Amino acid sequence: MSVLRWRWPTGDASGPADGNLGDADATVATGLALAALARRLRAAFAAGATAIELDVPDPDAVRDEAAAVVGWRGWFDLAELLGCRLEAPRPQGEGRAGLRLVPLPPEAAWHAGATAGAGGGAASASSAIGAAVGASGASDPVASERYADPAGFGAVRKLDHPGFLLPLLEALGRVRPPDGGRVLVLGCHRGDEIAALGLLDPHPVGLEVVGVDHAAAPLAEATRRFPAARFLQRDVADLPPDLGRFDLVVAVAVLQSPAVDDRALLRRLVQAHLTPTGSLLLGLPNGRFRGREPVWGARTRNYREPDLSLVVRDLAVYRRYLHQHGFRSHVGGRYDLLLTAWRGAGPG
Ligand SMILES: C[S@@+](CC[C@H](N)C(=O)[O-])C[C@H]1O[C@@H](n2cnc3c(N)ncnc32)[C@H](O)[C@@H]1O
Repeated sequence: MSVLRWRWPTGDASGPADGNLGDADATVATGLALAALARRLRAAFAAGATAIELDVPDPDAVRDEAAAVVGWRGWFDLAELLGCRLEAPRPQGEGRAGLRLVPLPPEAAWHAGATAGAGGGAASASSAIGAAVGASGASDPVASERYADPAGFGAVRKLDHPGFLLPLLEALGRVRPPDGGRVLVLGCHRGDEIAALGLLDPHPVGLEVVGVDHAAAPLAEATRRFPAARFLQRDVADLPPDLGRFDLVVAVAVLQSPAVDDRALLRRLVQAHLTPTGSLLLGLPNGRFRGREPVWGARTRNYREPDLSLVVRDLAVYRRYLHQHGFRSHVGGRYDLLLTAWRGAGPG
């Protein structure tokens, strides 16, 4: 175990900087110092450090509002950007705090072969919603098991993470289905989006919920959790024609799955499965799990840094199509980017 220790002197923002800062002001000096620190930490991890301990000015002890000081959020961001977990900071007294950064484990295995993010598959290659893209619609048995492993994605509890839960609740609140309304949840897995509907305050009552997923084991769990809902084990590209229309269709982290033709599916949802006042909530993964921790930012294979170009492109295509069909929309979210779309006055 190799642990690197570094002390950032109190009252000297230029502590870990590489060069002479001259008379740079305090904010610039802090930026330069942080950039230098990040370079050093990256180099230390690349050289095999298994942890890095930092001794820094305690942001809670700084009373001067104008002082250039790195706050807790800043240290968390630095840890995340370096691919690390930040352990609970330890106050050291005398205005100092101890931090410990430990590299996160590699990305969860179920991301393998995916392109977009936390649960995302290969983003589709078409550039317009009207374009014909050849998705087979048939579920291949291996693909349907990708998220079925109870020790893999099956162990993920998105609703335990504020970065998933709160934006999801905000988005669901925006397109809240009416009491007694019909809700279709595509790629429902173990039913977390259904659970989230029940967490709205106040939550809609008397909903008729239909969940669709091609994986058997998560569906069995969803059936146990939500006995009043109806679940269909089938490909989202092959929805039964008599499924009917819904007040809300939810599809989080499924549109970009391999073999799903997202554009064709969206057209079908709008044309055949939404009521005239029905709304949509589409979620595109914008993160990856490393161990139990989500890390922000969609990734593209072979890139170390997040690359949001595919999700941004897909969101733009979805929004253009929806606006052409009389919807208004909002994009929010964090580890999932959440596009909500509604017709009429809606929630505003
Ligand atoms: C990443 S998980 C997302 C689950 C849940 N919506 C969430 O965000 O936590 C993707 C889910 O979509 C399902 N899925 C992927 N492609 C599918 C397809 N073509 N037809 C039906 N279900 C599919 C998977 O089995 C899995 O349960």
